Amino acid sequence: MLKLTDIRKTYKIGPVDVEVLKGVSLGVEKGELLSVMGTSGCGKSTLMNIIGMLDKPSSGTHLLEGREVSNLSDNEISSIRNNKIGFVFQAFYLLPKLTSLENVGVPLIYRGMKKSEIRRRSHEFLKKVGMDERAHHRPNELSGGQQQRVAIARALAGKPSIILADEPTGALDTQVGKDIMQLFIDLNSEEGITVIIITHDPKIAQQCKRSVRMQDGVIIDD
Ligand SMILES: Nc1ncnc2c1ncn2[C@@H]1O[C@H](COP(=O)(O)OP(=O)(O)OP(=O)(O)O)[C@@H](O)[C@H]1O
Ligand SMILES: [Mg+2]
Repeated sequence: MLKLTDIRKTYKIGPVDVEVLKGVSLGVEKGELLSVMGTSGCGKSTLMNIIGMLDKPSSGTHLLEGREVSNLSDNEISSIRNNKIGFVFQAFYLLPKLTSLENVGVPLIYRGMKKSEIRRRSHEFLKKVGMDERAHHRPNELSGGQQQRVAIARALAGKPSIILADEPTGALDTQVGKDIMQLFIDLNSEEGITVIIITHDPKIAQQCKRSVRMQDGVIIDD
């Protein structure tokens, strides 16, 4: 469903060009459960942002379900992102004025879903991440791990066909981290959702059918 070929990404910092991705090629089939590991700064989040079409590569080709992403209009990209991709960010990006319940529902509003259905879905997914008792709290009334779980519920509530999770268990204790990982595994095996997880945790990588290792802007092991 996803095919990256020789993806490069260069950031300009003042007069200097820094190449962060140095020719990444990666194919992912529908229904895969894949982890991406690698040292801090090696380009994992940059790669994930490109896969999620939040950022554009400097060069290379990026096919999503057979279509070249650089040929899609901004509207098409927004629509694909909202309907098909569930993004769990490394920084959670919850909206500070909204409660947990409302944060989870935001992407669903953009789909034109009925209010009652949005409430039902939002509660359903808050339950799945163990956060329904905090449905009416705002982010500043939640711990980091709790905010992370609300962000995960938000990514899942839209029933995306692909989940991109950037260190989804980074702020969680061992048991909650295990539960969340199990949730991803279940969604992958029961609903065939493609899952790509960036992680520093070898135990999480072990639970994925496929593990990719990055180093200094390239994939060194797949
Ligand atoms: N917008 C940007 N402008 C300039 N440089 C950037 C930008 N975003 C990322 N970088 C640089 O790109 C490199 C890769 O960053 P990236 O966030 O992809 O790393 P990462 O592998 O996700 O690391 P971590 O495990 O710490 O999250 C870093 O050296 C970073 O400084
Ligand atoms: Mg990162």
